[in-house]
Amino acid sequence: MTEKTHFGYNQVDKSEKEKLVAGVFDSVATNYDVMNDVMSGGLHRFWKHYAVLSADVRKGMQVLDLASGTCDLAIQMGKQLAGTGHLVASDINQSMLDIGRDRMTDQGLVKNVSYQLANAEDLPFEDRRFDLVTMAFGLRNVTNKDKALAEIYRVLKPGGKCLVLEFSKPVDGLLDKVYDFYSFNILPKMGKIIAKDEDSYRYLAESIRMHPDQDTLQAMFSDAGFKLSSYKNLSGGIVALHQGLKV
Ligand SMILES: C[S@@+](CC[C@H](N)C(=O)[O-])C[C@H]1O[C@@H](n2cnc3c(N)ncnc32)[C@H](O)[C@@H]1O
Repeated sequence: MTEKTHFGYNQVDKSEKEKLVAGVFDSVATNYDVMNDVMSGGLHRFWKHYAVLSADVRKGMQVLDLASGTCDLAIQMGKQLAGTGHLVASDINQSMLDIGRDRMTDQGLVKNVSYQLANAEDLPFEDRRFDLVTMAFGLRNVTNKDKALAEIYRVLKPGGKCLVLEFSKPVDGLLDKVYDFYSFNILPKMGKIIAKDEDSYRYLAESIRMHPDQDTLQAMFSDAGFKLSSYKNLSGGIVALHQGLKV
C-alpha cells in the first residue's frame, strides 16, 4: 500500500504531496506578496524582521535561506552581508524563486548571491557548508519534515545556527477561536476576491492546523541533533520562531 500524508486536511499519497504543494505556489506566486500583507495586516513583516534580528547575520557568513519564495528574508540578510560571504536563496518552486530573484536584483543584491532550485528534504550542498540556515513559512509544506531538519543539520557547520519561522498554535484559547474563525471563514474569501484562488488559501489555513505545535517541533529539532533548541512565540503563538545550534 502507498504511504499517505496530509495535504491540508486531505490524505494523499506521499509521492503526490510535492506536486500538490507546487500547484498551490505556482497559483499564488504573482499575488503572494500582496496577499501576505492583506492576510496578516502587515504583521508578517514584523515576524520576519524579528527572525532576521535573531539570525544575527555577520559579514562574511555563508547563509542559506530555504523555501525562500519571494526572498523577504533573503533580501534583509543580503543587505546585512553587504556583498561579503555568500547567500543562497533556495526554493522548490521556480515561479516563486523567479520573483524572489527579481526583487533581490531590484535591490542591488547581486554580489555573492546565488539561487538554487531544491527540495529542502534533499539539499544539493556539501556537509558543513553554512553558518546559518533560515526557513520562513516553508517547513509546514514539506512532506518529510524530519528529513528536512536532518538535511539542514548536515549542511550547517559546527557552531552554525538554524532558524525556522512558522505558523504555530495560539497559546490563548480565545485567540485560538478567533484565529480559527478568521482562517476558515475570512481567509479563503480574501483569497477568492484578491487572488481569485479560494482553494489555495483554504489549503493555507488547513496546513497551519496540521503543522506540529511549538513543543512537538522543538522535540523534532532535538531529534535532528540540534542543541539548545528553543522557540519564541510571536503574536500569541500564531507564529513561533524556532532555533537550534549544531555543536
Ligand atoms: C509560504 S511560502 C514562504 C516564502 C518565504 N520564505 C516567505 O516567508 O515569504 C512557502 C515556500 O515554501 C516552498 N516550498 C514548499 N515545499 C518545499 C520544499 N519541500 N522544499 C523547499 N521549498 C519548499 C514553496 O515553494 C514556497 O515558496
